[in-house]
Amino acid sequence: MIKKCLFPAAGYGTRFLPATKATPKEMLPILTKPLIQYGVEEAVEADIHTMAIITGRGKRAIEDHFDISYELEHQIKGGSKENLLSEIRSLITNCTFSYTRQVEMKGLGHAILTGETLIGNEPFAVLLADDLCTHEEGSVLRQMIEVYEKYQCSVVAIEEVPMEETNKYGVIAGELVDSTTDTYRVTDMVEKPAPKDAPTNMAIIGRYILTPDIFEILRNTKPGKGGEIQITDALLEQAKQGNVIAYKFKGKRFDCGSVDGFVQATNYFYEKM
Ligand code: G1P
Repeated sequence: MIKKCLFPAAGYGTRFLPATKATPKEMLPILTKPLIQYGVEEAVEADIHTMAIITGRGKRAIEDHFDISYELEHQIKGGSKENLLSEIRSLITNCTFSYTRQVEMKGLGHAILTGETLIGNEPFAVLLADDLCTHEEGSVLRQMIEVYEKYQCSVVAIEEVPMEETNKYGVIAGELVDSTTDTYRVTDMVEKPAPKDAPTNMAIIGRYILTPDIFEILRNTKPGKGGEIQITDALLEQAKQGNVIAYKFKGKRFDCGSVDGFVQATNYFYEKM
């Protein structure tokens, strides 16, 4: 059972300046809903109700978002706008949110390690809210939990990207273990390789199921690409033991960490309204 989802949300979001100067990038809305709320809803769809959020300085709006605003509730009670709060109210009622701060920005691996106190010794999900995923049947996390239940090891979600974009992602190589479910046993992983050095075009997107031994591995992981502690490097250690599965998820992903992806997601959700 995967009961907890970790949300690394300490990054600066510099690509969205000046919007992200005083607003966390996770709070940027696609239509009327902040990115991180889409992420939390995806976790809930996968029966996860314990959210562990890694924040940093200037991120308090995230905590306020997942809390009751009495003044606002009072103001709109009985009015036509009340239903606009129904989704967030239901999340607040049905989930618990815990926070810890990443004091120094030392990379995604370091952010995940910072979450150890919130997660403890159990397998858990990681969701990067920048990657907004949609689905027809089960959410990407739900699909990944099914894969985890079968293989009982770490799972990364992958997508084929144009070869010239490998330098934006962790890239895997693997052996196909099940063609009906599109799962691979990972044999190699490289963080943001130049196209000429990339083993394949199979890119990791911001969804992971991790077994808790990852924390000990992260503690011993030296800074890698960009001088940061990379989750990709820690996962490679698990992969060397045959303990990482890559899963080509079903659904659509928008890279909302880029302006283009953000606009595409906005248009997509607007069309669906
Ligand atoms: C991070 C990871 C990368 C992964 C990506 C998915 O990079 O380091 O391996 O492919 O998330 O979104 P970031 O986008 O934070 O630079």
